[in-house]
Amino acid sequence: MHAILDVQGLSKHFQLFDQNALIPSCAEVALKVYAGQLTALVGPTGAGKSSVLKCIFRTYLPSAGRLFYRDGSDNLVDLAHASEQQILELRSREIGFVTQFLHCLPRKSALEVVSAPLLKRGIAAPEAQEKAAELLQLLNVPQRLWHVPPATFSGGEKQRINLARGLIARPRLLLLDEPTASLDPATTERVIDLLQSIKAEGVAMLAIFHQPELVTRLAEQAVRLSPPKMTTQTNLLETCA
Ligand SMILES: Nc1ncnc2c1ncn2[C@@H]1O[C@H](COP(=O)(O)OP(=O)(O)OP(=O)(O)O)[C@@H](O)[C@H]1O
Ligand SMILES: [Mg+2]
Repeated sequence: MHAILDVQGLSKHFQLFDQNALIPSCAEVALKVYAGQLTALVGPTGAGKSSVLKCIFRTYLPSAGRLFYRDGSDNLVDLAHASEQQILELRSREIGFVTQFLHCLPRKSALEVVSAPLLKRGIAAPEAQEKAAELLQLLNVPQRLWHVPPATFSGGEKQRINLARGLIARPRLLLLDEPTASLDPATTERVIDLLQSIKAEGVAMLAIFHQPELVTRLAEQAVRLSPPKMTTQTNLLETCA
């Protein structure tokens, strides 16, 4: 079976010009993600887990490495070198990202935020809103919040909106950054069930979890990251040359 995502030698560092310093955020990461399976990314705070997901989604441009993504037409795309246009198309059709924190436009209601990915795919508004309502119900979001913008929601409520928005369009590859971190045990169980059923539909997932129990229950593979070592500027530049 071909991997949907094959990451080889991924490193990312940030240059802080005002302090003349290079901050490494992840180094020499290798991992594979398969259709219908979940690969867990584990490791301590600061190990670079979120940075890996951001490089795959191209929120961050990788400093080194190859990120081969096999798209729906069976073409291999190196996400590290794909054009902005290619990345935007993949984001709208194939790759979903449930970020650690919810970022969304003010003045859009929870229902509008969650149904937006379906509208982008050309699904009519009433059907998209119906699907969004089903998912909000499933994730225990109280109905009184559905028509309110999520900006003022609690951490757990925001996380549910974020999850619903990421899961509604069934991407081929789903990136999840601590999807259950702010949820109560009952909602966590619902999310686990939902992730199991999405996996059974064939979605490939790469997810960050801090709880080992979730890794045991959901993951087929686990990849452990260690915090990248601070290197002097000269060494890092040599590595990247
Ligand atoms: N935009 C950025 N600019 C500068 N440094 C960054 C940036 N993003 C990440 N880093 C640094 O990279 C390192 C890894 O951060 P990252 O958020 O990937 O860790 P993490 O493993 O997800 O941690 P946590 O478990 O706390 O979420 C940190 O030291 C962080 O300060
Ligand atoms: Mg993180």
